[in-house]
Amino acid sequence: MLDRPHPTPTAPTLDPFALAKSMSGYHFIGGGYVPSRSGKTFAVVNPATGAEVARTAEGDASDVDAAVQNAAEAQKAWAKMPARKRGALVHACAAVIREHVEELAKLIALETGKALRTESRVEANTVADILEFFGGLGSELKGESVPFAPNVLSVTVREPLGVVGAIIPWNVPMLLMTLKVAPALVAGNSVVVKSAEEAPLAVLRICELMNRILPPGVFNMLSGFGPECGAPLVEHKLVRKVTFTGSVETGKIVARAAANKLIPVTLELGGKSPMIVFADCDFAKTVSGALTSMRFTRQGQSCTAASRIYVERPIFDAFVAEMKKAVDTMVMGDPLDEKTDIGTIISHDQFAKVQGFIDEGTKTAGATAHVCSAMPSDPALKKGLFLRPVIFTGLDASSRLVREEIFGPVTVMQPFDDAEAVLAEANDSDYGLAASLWTNNLKVGLDLAHRLEAGLVQINQNLVVQANLSYGGVKSSGLGKEASLEAMLEHFTHKKTIMVNMA
Ligand code: NAI
Ligand code: MG
Repeated sequence: MLDRPHPTPTAPTLDPFALAKSMSGYHFIGGGYVPSRSGKTFAVVNPATGAEVARTAEGDASDVDAAVQNAAEAQKAWAKMPARKRGALVHACAAVIREHVEELAKLIALETGKALRTESRVEANTVADILEFFGGLGSELKGESVPFAPNVLSVTVREPLGVVGAIIPWNVPMLLMTLKVAPALVAGNSVVVKSAEEAPLAVLRICELMNRILPPGVFNMLSGFGPECGAPLVEHKLVRKVTFTGSVETGKIVARAAANKLIPVTLELGGKSPMIVFADCDFAKTVSGALTSMRFTRQGQSCTAASRIYVERPIFDAFVAEMKKAVDTMVMGDPLDEKTDIGTIISHDQFAKVQGFIDEGTKTAGATAHVCSAMPSDPALKKGLFLRPVIFTGLDASSRLVREEIFGPVTVMQPFDDAEAVLAEANDSDYGLAASLWTNNLKVGLDLAHRLEAGLVQINQNLVVQANLSYGGVKSSGLGKEASLEAMLEHFTHKKTIMVNMA
């Protein structure tokens, strides 16, 4: 590391602007910061003001090759280390992250526009939690002894796959990255992450912090655009597994490229998650549950956002009214301000996409747009990508707003009359990531939970992904699971059979 530039402060820093600047222009390869081979960089923008806060390295195939070669070399010794020792090192990374929670929270708030108190700090703490969880699982990398014949000892062992390529999105980049990196490392793989172009900084700092504990080369970070940097990572011949979180469209491209090489791929894709509210629910708790379920504090930029809310007809009007009232009290403003509940949309592209959906819904005959909360008044934020949350009623099931992932602060609400009909509507979707049911009748709730087409169904709560609970969608929402022991074993190892003839 000594021959490399070390541009960043060693101690935790609470000035995200200075930290962002200091990290400008680098990947993290082989245990140190390195600029891109081409020397090219691109802007990282604060979406709350429109100001450039840093420039990040623009990676291409030659940077990918350098990172993967480093990772492949480092993986040999890493795989030979006892699994519990690898786990202990990953666990030790959690302590370093905990010392830097405030720093990371501010940095991610700066680059993504996610509110510090409601979103960014929560995400930073979750990173440490995930590292602690997987760090304890080293000794679970067990094989079996298999009955075959007397005098033939037949066993299976879990082996790492080699270099893992991980491609991540911008909405919860620190958490979604850790769900990949932690199990991959504990299982004995090395990792090359390609960060999302909109949010490369906080994950780069995490990579640096973890590299204070890990041997050089086992965890590397590249920034760059999808086709120029993500695609060569998937295609690199030494990459033996790809794990991806992002859009369905890009997920299919990644899966096709992985199929060409016949390597396994895990995909966490989008969602259009239904929330089903029965009249017998705990009304106040469910209204507040709708706000968290819709992830309004994150401007709805979540793959598990409750973007279709079905409410039993007798309480429909009251529910819509109470929900609007509650969202109205949420404060939209500077993401770095502790008073702020709701920050910004990530980028101009995403803003235009969401605005397009809102315009289409507003123009639809019979539909009502209940526009909530208020724009921030601070003139410093006038170029900020703030969007007032919208609750739509009166759209029918064929509307694009009901069928497509909006990934913004927009939810559609519809009344229903009976459980079978609402189940059919909820399942009438290309997606199948998550769902929630709100009722005090557990007989009805459990019956529907079993029949909903989704990877995660929650009754009377709607939490985000949690360490130890398998997470991943069905249908177009993805392939494979994350976050659990099963995820580590099935997605980051292969089972080798060894037979010994002792006759
Ligand atoms: P995206 O799926 O294009 O980007 C995700 C990651 O894939 C980024 O790191 C990107 O650089 C990379 N990538 C793009 N093209 C690639 C390629 N050809 N090969 C390898 N990697 C590639 O998502 P994007 O464009 O940021 O957002 C578009 C929409 O996707 C959003 O509006 C939202 O609906 C959805 N989305 C869903 C997410 C989820 O958590 N399920 C996260 C982000 C976006
Ligand atoms: Mg894209």
